[in-house]
Amino acid sequence: MQKILVTGAAGQIGSELTMVLRKTYGGDNVIATGHKTKPDKTVFESGPCHFIDCTEINTIAEMVKKYKVGTIYHLASVLSAVAEKDPQLAWNVNMFGLYNVLEVAREYKCCVFFPSSIGAFGPTTPLDNTPQDTIQRPNTMYGVTKVAGELLCDYYYKRFGVDTRGVRYPGLISYKALPGGGTTDYAVEIFYEAIKQKRYTCYLKAGTYLDMMYMPDALRAAIELMEANPDKLKHRNAFNATAMSFAPEHIAATIKRILPKFTMDFKVDPIRQAIAESWPNNMDDNAARQEWGWKPKYDLESMTKDMIEKISQKLKIKLD
Ligand code: SER
Repeated sequence: MQKILVTGAAGQIGSELTMVLRKTYGGDNVIATGHKTKPDKTVFESGPCHFIDCTEINTIAEMVKKYKVGTIYHLASVLSAVAEKDPQLAWNVNMFGLYNVLEVAREYKCCVFFPSSIGAFGPTTPLDNTPQDTIQRPNTMYGVTKVAGELLCDYYYKRFGVDTRGVRYPGLISYKALPGGGTTDYAVEIFYEAIKQKRYTCYLKAGTYLDMMYMPDALRAAIELMEANPDKLKHRNAFNATAMSFAPEHIAATIKRILPKFTMDFKVDPIRQAIAESWPNNMDDNAARQEWGWKPKYDLESMTKDMIEKISQKLKIKLD
């Protein structure tokens, strides 16, 4: 079979997607690549692993040639909060990284999965029931790179026939690798603090609704979209995909039902608060449901239960 290349394989999505792909297609068929961070032991020991720099096109091309890669899951990206601190870095990694991946894909005829984000929307977007096709004028560097990325993927499909596909992910909640500096990270941090300290100080205000998704659903979304019948895909890139929408007080209340001693207070970070307020409260993901059968399995309740179970096991903390 043609091999699969994963960029950002040490990251929050990549570390888990690599393992699911390896289970499905075989360890040797999935090439994990990372930049600075070494992927965890399970990724490192279960198949080929390399350091590459997506901003250097040759390092991607070498991998694709060496392993005869047919599909690239391009996950290497700088997230929203880090991007606001270092917009130049975000432009470099997010834009040149994607451009290089698409150029290599054009030359070697690879399919490309590119994750866009709720960050591709902005303050003038309708924030409730955000439509699939709507105004996108983000005011963050992360958002600028995500919208440009969506358009670039559309362009490479239309102009060169590169099979590009992607979803607009909401905040992703998971217990393996930590997210790398996004605005939605609070929904992961809260679990670690609830289990370790029984309290959490949230950097977003109560009432700040955002779309979220549990990692097993996010991984399924990527794989199901890449395996979908292309004739049915009208949008191809940048499908709205969500699983739940909540504000900080709702996740806190759900945790409290399992950990009754848990309390949360607030110390608002104005930068991340402004970013969150410019993003959808909840997206309409009917295009994904209709075109490739998207359906999440986890809601707030079932995700919370699983997260608490898995993180307490990981930290070896007995719950009381
Ligand atoms: N989780 C991402 C972030 O907060 C959104 O795509 O940056």
